[in-house]
Order: sequence, then C-alpha cells, then structure tokens
Amino acid sequence: MSVGPASGEFLYERIARQLDAQIQDGVFRVGERLPSVRQLCASERVSPASALQALSLLEARGLIEARPKSGFFVRHRRVDCAPPPPPSSCKLEPGAVGVSDVVAQVFYQAGDERMVPLGAAIPAPELLPTERLSRCLAQLARSQPERLGRYDIKPGHPELLRQLVRRFASYGCHVAQEELVVTFGAMEALNLAVRAVTHPGDIVAVESPCYFGLLEILESLGLRALPVPGTCEEGIDLDLLETAIERHRVKAVMLVPSFSNPNGSCMSQPRRERLMALLADHGIPLVEDDIYGDIHFGPERPRPVKSLDRDGLVLYCGSFSKILSPGLRVGWVAGGRYSEQVRRLKYISSLTTPAINQLAIARFLESTAMERHLRSLRQAFRTQMAQISEEILASFPEGTGLSQPEGGFYLWVQLPDGVDAFDLHRLAAAEKIDIAPGQIFCPHADIRNRIRISCGYPCDARIRKSIHTLARLVRELAAGHLKPSKR
Ligand SMILES: Cc1ncc(COP(=O)(O)O)c(C=O)c1O
Repeated sequence: MSVGPASGEFLYERIARQLDAQIQDGVFRVGERLPSVRQLCASERVSPASALQALSLLEARGLIEARPKSGFFVRHRRVDCAPPPPPSSCKLEPGAVGVSDVVAQVFYQAGDERMVPLGAAIPAPELLPTERLSRCLAQLARSQPERLGRYDIKPGHPELLRQLVRRFASYGCHVAQEELVVTFGAMEALNLAVRAVTHPGDIVAVESPCYFGLLEILESLGLRALPVPGTCEEGIDLDLLETAIERHRVKAVMLVPSFSNPNGSCMSQPRRERLMALLADHGIPLVEDDIYGDIHFGPERPRPVKSLDRDGLVLYCGSFSKILSPGLRVGWVAGGRYSEQVRRLKYISSLTTPAINQLAIARFLESTAMERHLRSLRQAFRTQMAQISEEILASFPEGTGLSQPEGGFYLWVQLPDGVDAFDLHRLAAAEKIDIAPGQIFCPHADIRNRIRISCGYPCDARIRKSIHTLARLVRELAAGHLKPSKR
C-alpha cells in the first residue's frame, strides 16, 4: 500500500521508505525478490529513474542486493563469524581419527525420514531434476537393454567422459580424458584417490573442521590425520600447513577448497596459487574434493586448484550428488600422475559404475537444461540459507555466531560457551529434529559448541518451528536447566 510523502521527501525516498517498512514487517523476507523496476513504476506511478533510485538507496543502506539478471533481493544481516581456534594453541600433531562410532550414530539418524532434515547433507529432492532424469533412465533401459546384460569394463562411458572434460574446461580446468575414472559418487572417488597416494600409517593433512566422510576414509585405511585449522572465510591456514609440512612427513593433503563442508570456506585465487606452489615445492599430492564448486552465489565459479597443477599432483574428485542426483551415485577422479593407480583401484573396488547411470547424467549435461537448473538451484540454496540464518539470529540466545558462506548449503553455527553440541544433538533428536554436532568434523580439537545446519530444504513452517525449538533447547542448556541423559 502507498504511504503519502513526508514533507520535503523526494518520490524515490518515499518508495524506499515504504519498501524498508515492508522488509521490517516481513512482507518481503530475507532472500526474497523485491518488485522489479517495471512493477514499481506501475504500482507507484513513478518513472523508471525514481524506482531505480529507490532501490539503489536501499542497496546503499545494505538492506537489499542486486543480483545480475535476477533483480533486487532482501539481504540477510551480516554478523561476525565463529572464530577459529587460535593458532598458538594448535598442536599440529597427527593422530588416529576415531570418529566412526559417533558418525555412524549421527549418519543413520539422518536417514530417518521422520526427522526434520537440518542435519543431513542433502538437497530437497524437489530441487533436483528427478523427473527428467527418471524419464531418461527409462528411455535408456528401453532402447539399450543389452547394457543390463553385460559388464561395461571401462574407466567411464565415453559420452560422460566427453561431457566432463568439456565442463571442467568451461571453468578453466583442463583435464585429459585418459586421466578420468567414473566412480560411485564422490565418496568412492576420495577413497580411491587417497589410497592411490598413501600407505597405512602415513600422515594426511586435512583442514579442521572437515567433512567427517574424509576423516572416516582416513580411519578405515589406517592413516593418521593431521588437522590444520581453517577459518570460515579463507579455509585452511597456509602458514600452519607449511609448518606442518616442515615438521612431519605429510604424504598427502585432502581439501575441499570451494564451499567446504561444514564451515563453507572458499579459498581465494591467490591462496590457491600459494597452496599449489607449496605442494609442488615438496612434491606432495593434493586430493581436491570439488563437490560444491557449482553452488556458488557470486558471479563466477571458483577455479579448482587442479587448474593450476603443472606436475600432475592434484587428484581432482567430485560428483553430481549435490546438484543433480545423490541416488545415481555418479562421481569422478581425474588422477593426474596417479591415474593408473586410481584405475586399478577402481577395478578392485567396484569394477565399474553402471553405464546407464552415467549416460543419464551425460544426457542432462549436454542439454540446455543444465545451466538453467544450476541457476535456479543456486538461487534456492541462497534464499534458504539466508532465511534460516535470519531465523537462527532472531531466536538463538546471545553468544551465537554464524558463518556466511558464499556458496554451498551449510551453516556452521557457534553456540554460546558451555553448550555441548552432542547434548543438543540428543535433545533435538528426541524432538524429531536432526542436526550435525560439530565434534564429528574436528575430532582432535577441543571444540564442543559448534553445530552444522543444513539448508538443503526450503525454510517452511516446519523448519522455522524446529529452529525455534532448537533455540529453546540451546537457551535451556546454556542456563543449565536441562540435564541431558547419558550417552
Ligand atoms: C565434502 C563432501 N565430499 C563428499 C561427499 C560425498 O558425496 P557423494 O554422495 O557423491 O558420495 C559429501 C557428502 O556430503 C561431502 O559433503
């Protein structure tokens, strides 16, 4: 509704004031699109210049942001990120991992469909092109039934390999087709890659916090993890990584440089260059997990570290699980100078990846639907993350901190001092809410008050209610009113 101009107010100031009030009242929520310039011209009977001036004023005040070709969106409040553990207290010692029992418990709970999905690392199925993929699968099974009657013993189906090489090249990462092995998701890719460059007992440097799946792989292979602290903004601390490499015989480094799980960090290009130079100096291989690189909110996709590799030291891994289909289980490794080992290990591990699944992904990649789908997926994750952040900031008690990733779909949440994430995890589970306790991402660090919240699902009434329940539990834990039962 139009509000009359206050005396001396310009037209554009009136419109800005109206929109500001509507944002404060929640008419437009964080992450939502504001009316376009054309709509404002029609509803307010003003010129395009006045409408644009109003929007620019709100943008200058930090209330909204312009997104290229999409319009103006309500921004979420920026707060200080959860601080990293201070480097001086960091021991930089390798050790056995020991997360698997706890991870198993957390992981199986995440698969329970009755739980509110704030823990599991999965996008809502309705955000993925499942119908189109299932039509494609049915058509492939009908037209090529012989595929079901034989082994397809190849490192990958040529159609998919071609699409992968083209796709990587489109963001500056040049990979030879012969380097590639198609895997069962990123999990098999990471397994093969790390096995190709290590032996049991070796030391592998990882960022702390890091995806618990990486830690589980190291544990299962009898490797020792050397956690190197990282921040939500910049990722792994490269000075500390250098010190760790000088002190210990680090056999490999495993990282998620773009929108890491759980803290969402994304390494800048100069830091990627420094990392590559450091590894090249020491001849240390990098297992690069780029599963979230396509979910960037900024205009450009971060370039993989692999694109800087001149010596074949980077084993570039990823999958389509977070952007197209977790169910088809299609991933890859481009193994650089270790390609032959990776190929043999794939054969020992699972012989081959079903050709029909590979073909379904290849057909989607070559269609014009891919870029359209990615644009709307990024938009959805960005909006969900902004709305869930806002809900947490509005309801959690003082002492709560939050990461503000520029991609992916996780929030790394710092709880007030004294609140133990395992206690919160258990109490939340009793309320049928799933969250991921921070301890499973940083086993050696004495950090107990972090949780990862997944923003893979739309922030609907059920999610909002669950966040308010979590906020109540956190408040009661912080005040010492709740005695969590024994684990
Ligand atoms: C960083 C990272 N790597 C790998 C995976 C596993 O991916 P996939 O389902 O393709 O095996 C995940 C899943 O959550 C992940 O977060």
